[in-house]
Amino acid sequence: MNSIGVGLLGFGTVGSGTAKILVENQEVIASRLGRPLELKRIADLDITTDRGVKVDGRILTTDAADVIDAPDIDIVIELIGGYEPAKGFLLRAIDQGKHVVTANKALLASDGWEIFEAATKKGVDVGFEASVGGGIPLIQSIKEGLVANRIQGLFGILNGTANFILTKMTDETGSFADVLKEAQDLGYAELDPTFDVEGIDAAHKLTILLSIAYGIPIDFDAVYTEGISRITPLDIRFMKSFGYRIKLLAISKDDGKAIEARVHPTLIPENSLLASVNQAYNALYVTGDAVGNVMFYGPGAGMMPTGSAVVSDVVNVARNIISGAVGRVPALGYQPATMQARRIKSMDDLAVKYYFRFSAEDRPGVLSRISGILGKHEISIQSVHQQGRDVLGAVPIVMITHEAREAAVRQALSEIDRLDIVKDRTMLIRIEDWK
Ligand code: HSE
Repeated sequence: MNSIGVGLLGFGTVGSGTAKILVENQEVIASRLGRPLELKRIADLDITTDRGVKVDGRILTTDAADVIDAPDIDIVIELIGGYEPAKGFLLRAIDQGKHVVTANKALLASDGWEIFEAATKKGVDVGFEASVGGGIPLIQSIKEGLVANRIQGLFGILNGTANFILTKMTDETGSFADVLKEAQDLGYAELDPTFDVEGIDAAHKLTILLSIAYGIPIDFDAVYTEGISRITPLDIRFMKSFGYRIKLLAISKDDGKAIEARVHPTLIPENSLLASVNQAYNALYVTGDAVGNVMFYGPGAGMMPTGSAVVSDVVNVARNIISGAVGRVPALGYQPATMQARRIKSMDDLAVKYYFRFSAEDRPGVLSRISGILGKHEISIQSVHQQGRDVLGAVPIVMITHEAREAAVRQALSEIDRLDIVKDRTMLIRIEDWK
């Protein structure tokens, strides 16, 4: 039986997991596929470190060309990450007529369109299951399992590091900086933790999901992005007392006229399903017009879970090669000619409930000045909380509003923050109350 040749670029954490699965689960995969997958070569600049994977040393090389240009390799897996040389390698592999599989969300969110176009032109498949949600099979589920639906909404916890930090801050009251250090030591964080904590990694992933959910071209700039680095233990304490949990959520809603696309810290009811997604786990809650609500949950990162997603792509591509059905499912789930941009709702037009924490002087009249400005901007207060007296001059006053327009909220807060009685910039966190 002819094997399908596989080559790997990048022998780091996910590369090692992928190689381990290809070697150790070779038999079960072959019995599902009908042909063996053969890991022919692995390229990495470091081929001396022991990765804990039993591979023949002769398949290791420091030259990516030994993978990309090899005639016995049908599928090239790119697990180097980052922009270059990953992009150049992928385009060169496509140009050589190789099918490609990648976990590179940052690259796909910025240059995915170019990569998918090149692949379509060349008639090769691109798999990217591992780019969103680690081991959770999200991409294939949306593209194929939910193909019957118009997608109406996506709510995702798509960054394990941020979720780990917020969970720890909620359960153990640690400071942001201490918990970030712990997440880095556990190996969850990206090379640059800014991507994780400032919401950029989650925005990369949402960008990819938007495209496959709605059939719109990839456009990272359309996603509003805000991270979790300003969240304090004090906020966590207050939101818990209001019955909320905080999550870095990737949110999209399609009301038929425009699409919301935003990543930001969000308060959700403590008894909602997503509130129980803790630690480094990821989840995606999808609403389809036919299916209703579906939720996916699982490990969003890590060597073996992400390797599992990579290998699922390799098997899918291999099935297409065997049955002569390359391109059977378009890379982004929509026929490229039908994909078109949609209006993205401006954040100014967003209407949600808000959590505000003001740092104000503790004296008569303060609350009425603040609420006067909110009232002037048509922002109605649902509840107010002031805890303790601070002899140092400022106390936290926390408010939950009814639904308000973000443009009005921004204007009101900029007026409030200029008041002499307000001592620090007001904290704003958006609320999604599941109905
Ligand atoms: N840094 C990412 C996370 C890894 O924390 O979720 C998976 O993309």
